[in-house]
Amino acid sequence: MATESPATRRVQVAEHPRLLKLKEMFNSKFGSIPKFYVRAPGRVNIIGEHIDYCGYSVLPMAVEQDVLIAVEPVKTYALQLANTNPLYPDFSTSANNVQIDKTKPLWHNYFLCGLKGIQEHFGLSNLTGMNCLVDGNIPPSSGLSSSSALVCCAGLVTLTVLGRSLSKVELAEICAKSERYIGTEGGGMDQSISFLAEEGTAKLIEFSPLRATDVKLPSGAVFVIANSCVEMNKAATSHFNIRVMECRLAAKLLAKYKSLQWDKVLRLEEVQAKLGISPEEMLSVTEDALHPEPYNPEEICRCLGISLEELRTQILSPNTQDVLIFKLYQRAKHVYSEAARVLQFKKICEEAPENMVQLLGELMNQSHMSCRDMYECSCPELDQLVDICRKFGAQGSRLTGAGWGGCTVSIVPADRLPSFLANVHKAYYQRSDGSLAPEKQSLFATKPGGGALVLLEA
Ligand code: GLA
Repeated sequence: MATESPATRRVQVAEHPRLLKLKEMFNSKFGSIPKFYVRAPGRVNIIGEHIDYCGYSVLPMAVEQDVLIAVEPVKTYALQLANTNPLYPDFSTSANNVQIDKTKPLWHNYFLCGLKGIQEHFGLSNLTGMNCLVDGNIPPSSGLSSSSALVCCAGLVTLTVLGRSLSKVELAEICAKSERYIGTEGGGMDQSISFLAEEGTAKLIEFSPLRATDVKLPSGAVFVIANSCVEMNKAATSHFNIRVMECRLAAKLLAKYKSLQWDKVLRLEEVQAKLGISPEEMLSVTEDALHPEPYNPEEICRCLGISLEELRTQILSPNTQDVLIFKLYQRAKHVYSEAARVLQFKKICEEAPENMVQLLGELMNQSHMSCRDMYECSCPELDQLVDICRKFGAQGSRLTGAGWGGCTVSIVPADRLPSFLANVHKAYYQRSDGSLAPEKQSLFATKPGGGALVLLEA
């Protein structure tokens, strides 16, 4: 699997309404026919939130919603990007001089991240130009990874235009790294599942080295995604990077406490691995080493024996320099307990006990509680939606993705699905105040979809 490249499939465009529409729009926009198409899916993370960048395994599956790009390479250096959604304006630049503006997360910058990642991987300064028309149906800013799907899709588009090949694992690693040009210090979950997903199975994604293992979900249950309709764009605020920095600082303080070489440590997982103990055992080390009261930068500097200047320039990211409060104890507790829950979830799926849906649901509920109370990445609407989902038959429900808005994922016994959908719709979306824009409302059952691929017209 580690060396396998994304598949190329021949399709009858006329038989796929979305492809056909894209082809026609491409023709009216650029006056020509696309040479090929690339699709890359979004994902739903079933369990394992905010732990990939700490080095821990996560358990997502691809959803069927995806980003689809129609492509025509051109003989000049002009890169022309258009989107079928009129909210996203056209963009053009020279493929030789790609600039990514970190100050605003504009849609085309995600394309440029994927392109730049491939360009740099091969050490190319001269890239040929192309015309691209992008069509996405993953709800944006909703925790289903629409941005990473665009980065991954653009990466595979660029690779295909160059006529080169890379494995899915290499592509995932390149795209995870290059998405950071946007300024968000994400882990590698979203890009990994976008390339490594396979229809019919969720995946345990492990890092360093990156690998994916099938996790068979229970046949008697359905996973349902519900959008809280609160938009959260993780690149537009510093919440996300603050958490990454808190975890990094917690790792350093824990390492120092245990007399490890703390200055090289970046991730909470490294401390556990160096001590040779389990994530659960790290919970008691955290209790001993850290205090629940928030830390200020001065205290952190005192603990590590460094200056404020060193803290800012050598440890913190550019958009977290002015943070005054770091909750190290709470963040470490979340990460170690969530890492343990992922492994328990996988084990239950493998052993398939009779009450497995209930057990999996309990783990998902615990995960939400920890995200809400320890990691503080929920919001009142997500908490309310999770409660509604549980009330109407979900065995477990939790926020999914970065949080602070976006979607929930619930595990629902298959026979309760119709009443669950009807009741949740009524309780959350049909509010009397009409405050939820209908176009953002989405509530749907999902199953594990396939990963990124190239499509050629048959
Ligand atoms: C975002 C990041 C991922 C992961 C999740 C939270 O989607 O891109 O790497 O950290 O948030 O689990």
